[in-house]
Amino acid sequence: MKLLVFAGSTRLKSFNRQLARATAAMASASGPEVTHLELGDFDIPMYNADLEARGTPADVLRLKEIMHAHPAWIICTPEYNASYPALVKNTLDWVSSPVQGHATWNDGFRSTRGKVVGMLSASPGALGGLRSQSHLAPLLLNLQCWLAPLNFALAHAADAFDADGALVNEPARRHVQAVIDQVVWAAGRLQT
Ligand code: FNR
Repeated sequence: MKLLVFAGSTRLKSFNRQLARATAAMASASGPEVTHLELGDFDIPMYNADLEARGTPADVLRLKEIMHAHPAWIICTPEYNASYPALVKNTLDWVSSPVQGHATWNDGFRSTRGKVVGMLSASPGALGGLRSQSHLAPLLLNLQCWLAPLNFALAHAADAFDADGALVNEPARRHVQAVIDQVVWAAGRLQT
C-alpha cells in the first residue's frame, strides 16, 4: 500500500510538519510504502484561473501525479481561525482543477477521487486543531475522498516533541498509529 503523508504548513519548526515526519516514520516501520511530502518543495502560486489558462504550473502537475499514485493519504493540518490554513485550500484547489488542454489529466478529481484520507492536526492550544478537521472533512468529501472515521488532534503540541522533533508523547503515538492502521487497512479494502 502506498501512503502519502503531508502537512499543511511550511513553517520551519511547524508542529504539523513534525507530526507528519513522525507519522511517516511510524508508518514506514509498520508496512506501507510511505511518501513524506513537503508542500514547501512545490512552487504553487495562489490559485488564479487566468494564470491557469496560460498552463497548469509544472509543480501542480507534479503534485497531481504524486497524489494520483497514492491510494492512502494522511494530512496533518494546522488550525487557523478555527479552520484549515490557506495553504491547504490552495493546494487542494489546484490539484482538483482540470488541467487545461491536457488530454491525460483532463479530469480534475482524478488525483483525489477514491483516496482514503486520515486527518491529523496539531496545535499549541487545548483543542489540538480539531476544528480545522471539521472544516477539512467536507472539502475532502467534495474531492470524492473517503474519510477514515478515526482522527487525532494533538493538543499542547509544544510539549509533545523532543528537541530533535521526535514525537515523544506515548498516548499521541498510539492514536497516530491507530489512524495509520485504519487508513492503510481501508485503502487496501477499497482497492480489492
Ligand atoms: C493560529 N493558531 C490557532 N491555533 C488554534 O488552536 N486555533 C486557532 O483557531 C488558531 N488560529 C490561528 C490563526 C492564525 C492566523 C495563526 C497564524 C495561528 C495558532 C496555530 O495553531 C499555531 O501557529 C501553530 O503552530 C500553526 O501550525 P504549525 O505551523 O506549527 O504546524
